[in-house]
Amino acid sequence: MLRTHNNGELRLTNVNQTVTLCGWVQKTRDKGGMIWIDLRDRYGISQLMLEEGKTPKEVLDLARTFGREFVISATGLVVERLSKNDKIPTGDVEIKVTSLEVLNPAKLPPFLIEDDTDGGDDIRMKYRYLDLRRNPVRANLQLRHQVARFTRDYLDRQDFIEVETPVLIKSTPEGARDFVVPSRMNPGEFYALPQSPQTFKQLLMVSGFDRYYQIVKCFRDEDLRADRQPEFTQIDCEMSFIEQEDVLNMFEGLIRHLFLNVKNMELGEVSRMTYAHAMKYYGSDKPDIRFDMKFVELKSEEVDLTSGKDFVVFDSVDTVVGINAKGCAEYTRKQVDELTDFVKRPQIGAKGLIYLRYNADGTLKSSVDKFYSEEDLKKWAEAFGAEKGDLILILPGTGDKVRKQLNELRLEMGNRLGLRDPKKYAAHWVVDFPLLEYGEDENRWFAMHHPFTSPKPEDLQYLATGELGKIRANAYDLVINGVEVGGGSIRIFQKELQAKMFEVLGFSDEEAKHQFGFLMDAFEYGAPPHGGLAFGFDRLCSLFGGSDSIRDFIAFPKNNSGRDIMIDSPSTIDQKQMDELKIRTVL
Ligand code: AMO
Repeated sequence: MLRTHNNGELRLTNVNQTVTLCGWVQKTRDKGGMIWIDLRDRYGISQLMLEEGKTPKEVLDLARTFGREFVISATGLVVERLSKNDKIPTGDVEIKVTSLEVLNPAKLPPFLIEDDTDGGDDIRMKYRYLDLRRNPVRANLQLRHQVARFTRDYLDRQDFIEVETPVLIKSTPEGARDFVVPSRMNPGEFYALPQSPQTFKQLLMVSGFDRYYQIVKCFRDEDLRADRQPEFTQIDCEMSFIEQEDVLNMFEGLIRHLFLNVKNMELGEVSRMTYAHAMKYYGSDKPDIRFDMKFVELKSEEVDLTSGKDFVVFDSVDTVVGINAKGCAEYTRKQVDELTDFVKRPQIGAKGLIYLRYNADGTLKSSVDKFYSEEDLKKWAEAFGAEKGDLILILPGTGDKVRKQLNELRLEMGNRLGLRDPKKYAAHWVVDFPLLEYGEDENRWFAMHHPFTSPKPEDLQYLATGELGKIRANAYDLVINGVEVGGGSIRIFQKELQAKMFEVLGFSDEEAKHQFGFLMDAFEYGAPPHGGLAFGFDRLCSLFGGSDSIRDFIAFPKNNSGRDIMIDSPSTIDQKQMDELKIRTVL
C-alpha cells in the first residue's frame, strides 16, 4: 500500500501518529509562512500543513510547485488543528508534513473539480473521468451501487438466481429499432443487440429455473430524452407458476426493500389504477399522483355542459376537458398567455386554452363568456368542485389526444405550484393495459407491451369478434412520481395462442417461424405458466437521487445524439475491417 490511511479517515484519536496519505491536490493556500494543501480522494479531504522554518526547505519548495489535481503522497505527523473545520469529518486534525512526493503531475483541468463547477455539459462529458471526481457525480454512482446491492440482496433471499443471457442475439420485439452487429464469419448476416432479454428469460422458465433475474444492459435505437439512453440497464425478472397478483406483490416488496435500505424511508401505500382510469382522469399511462388535479369532463360520452350555445370550438369536438388549478384565479393575463403558448407548442399541439376564473369576490370570468351565461359557468365551476380563488383551464379536442395535451398542462401546473417535490414519493401500479394498439400510420395492430403478453381470459371473446381494441392484457407498469419505473406481464405459454397473437400482429407463419420459431418450439416441450417484469435500473437510481436525468447516474453516458464524445463514438472503422465484414457504406 502506498498509504497508511485514506483522506476521510483521520480523527483526534490519530493525533501523534505518523501517517502517509495519497490523493489529488484539491487546492493549495500559500500564506508565505504557512502552506495548507487540501488532499482529496474518494473518501474525503485531509488538510496538509507546511511551515516555514519547521518543514524542510526542499519539501516547502516542492509543495509550491503543486497545481490543482497533482497526484501526490505526503508523510507527516497528525496534530490537532487550532481552528477546526466542522464541515468535514477530518476537520479536527491536520498533518504536519515531513516529506512529499509527486506521484504524477497534472495539467490544469478544463473545469473546476468542485461540487459547483464552472464546466458546461459538453466539456464535462468530454472529460467525464474528471467530472466523476466531483462529489455529487461520485455520490450518484455510489447510490447506484447501493441500489444494485440491495436488489441482489432481496432477490437472492426470494430464491431468484442471476443468469447471464447473450448480447449477440436476434431481434427482440420491444418496439424500438435494433442496434445490429455484422458477423465476419457469416458474411451478410447480422446479430441484433437485445432490447431486453425477454425471450431468453422465458426460455429459462421452460428450462425450469423458476425464478430468474439479471441486472442487464439493454440496447434500443430510439430518440433520446432525459430518461432514455440507447444503452441502459434493467433489473430483469421472471417467475413460474404465478399469477399477476404474485408478481405485483413480489416486486412491490423489492421496491419497499430499496426505499428502506437505500433511502431509509418507508414507501407509503402502492395503489392500483387501471389504464382506462389513468387515461380518463390524467391523460397518461404514468400519472404523477403526488398531486390530485384530476381531469373533469365538460363534454364526453357521459356529459355535455357545453353544446347548444353556438360556440363552434366546443360544438365541433367530442371532448372538452379541464383541470382546476387551485388558488390561481389571480394569474395575470401574461401568465395565462404563457400557459396558452405552452399548450400550443408543437410538441403538445393544442389549438388554444380556455379559462374560467372563480374570482375572490365570487364572480365568474371566462374567455368564452360571450357564449356562456353566468348560470352555465356556474355549472362548470360546480363540476370542477371549484372554490373562490380557483382557475379552471380547459382544452377542447378529440378523446385521448386532448387528454394527453391536458396531461402536459397538468404536469406544468404541478411544477409551477410546487406540487412535484422530488423528496416526496408516490408509487402505484397501472394495470389492465390494452393488449393491442392501432397504428394509424402503418394501418395495423401493434402489441402495446410485447407479443408475448397474455390477454385477459374474459376478453378472449373479442379476438373472435375482431374487436381487438377491447382486449385487455395481463400487463402492468410500476409508476413512481410520474416515471414508468418498470413494466411487465403474464406471458402466453401455449403455442396456439402465441401463434394467434403473431397472426393478429400481421406476421405470416413464415415470418413468425423465422423470428420466433425457437420460442414456439420451446412451448411444445412443457412450458410452465410464467410472467415477470423489468425495472429501468437507471430510472430507479435517478428517482432515488431526486433527479430527472438518468445520465447523471450512468458512469459513461451518451449525449442526446447517441454519441460518447469522450471516446468519440460512433466512428468510422478501417477499410480493412469493412472488407473483412463485406460491408460498404452508401452515404
Ligand atoms: P419495457 O420495454 O417496458 O419492458 O422496459 C422496462 C423498463 O425499462 C426502462 N426503459 C428504459 N430506461 C432507460 N432508457 C431506455 N431507452 C429505456 N427503455 C425502457 C423503463 C421500462 O419500464 N421485456 C420487457 C419487460 C417484461 O415484460 O418483463 C421490457 O423490456 O423503466
